[in-house]
Amino acid sequence: MLLGSDKSYGLPRATQMFQFLRARGRRESAAVSVARRSSRITIPELAGRKGGEPIAILTAYTAPIAGLVDPHVDAILVGDSLGMVVYGLPSTLAVTLEMMIAHGKAVVSATEHAAVIVDLPFGSYQASPTQAFAAAARVMSETGCDAVKLEGGTEMAETVSFLVARGIPVMGHVGLTPQSVNRLGGYRARGRDDAEAARLQEDAQSISDAGAFAIVIEGTIDPVARRITDAISAPTIGIGASPACDGQVLVIDDVLGLAGDFKPKFVRRYVELGPQIAEAAASYAADVKAHRFPGPENLYGVPKARA
Ligand code: KIV
Repeated sequence: MLLGSDKSYGLPRATQMFQFLRARGRRESAAVSVARRSSRITIPELAGRKGGEPIAILTAYTAPIAGLVDPHVDAILVGDSLGMVVYGLPSTLAVTLEMMIAHGKAVVSATEHAAVIVDLPFGSYQASPTQAFAAAARVMSETGCDAVKLEGGTEMAETVSFLVARGIPVMGHVGLTPQSVNRLGGYRARGRDDAEAARLQEDAQSISDAGAFAIVIEGTIDPVARRITDAISAPTIGIGASPACDGQVLVIDDVLGLAGDFKPKFVRRYVELGPQIAEAAASYAADVKAHRFPGPENLYGVPKARA
């Protein structure tokens, strides 16, 4: 379907764009899935970037945003941050497997370049390696994503090697792990004292040794993130960590200026879309109330001369 073609007339632009992206995703998976996959960055490629070209990752949760981000990044993370970013929840704890699968599917269908990694949500993998396998297998098979991510250190090493041995690529996540916010007692940066720094290093080492293809280090003081990056063989992906990491990840809404006044120190906003969206909504509402919208150019069935 071409945007703006006869068949799509009458649909709002955003709906047209979404249908276009979805149709493209369907076409590609209806052809030979290998054809779509061959142009995607692979997990072994990402794993091989240790100490090489930095890995750029952004989160995305919806088809339109994923499609825009896809050509520019190495991987897209469908993070469980969607609980807060998309659903307005107070933390990631209430995010479900069904939510992750729905958003993972949308992101995979709209992308063809970046590897897509989907978070396993709280409660779907911590009980045992077999519980983790069941959740990860559902995510992989129902979304078509390339890998899953899970949070945790030494206590999750057995689970990581269980999944990897069964064909599921795993990205680890250590440091400030939001699913453990209640145990950690908040979102403060980790690794400030020697004991905590040593524990973090042990966590990252054990997840790397277990076979994770990359490890997110979140909210960890710079010297500790550097030390971990130097020590482990898996590429490290920093968020609020260190430029020495092998790659970086940010939440897309933070990058786009959609997170309101909340601007943590580790975020760099590349555009301020929030005020632009508010302004567009205000202009639209004012036009409706003043009978300026719809205009003649927006009408069907009106002869050109009268329009
Ligand atoms: O859920 C998420 O978006 C994440 C990133 C912040 C690393 O885990």
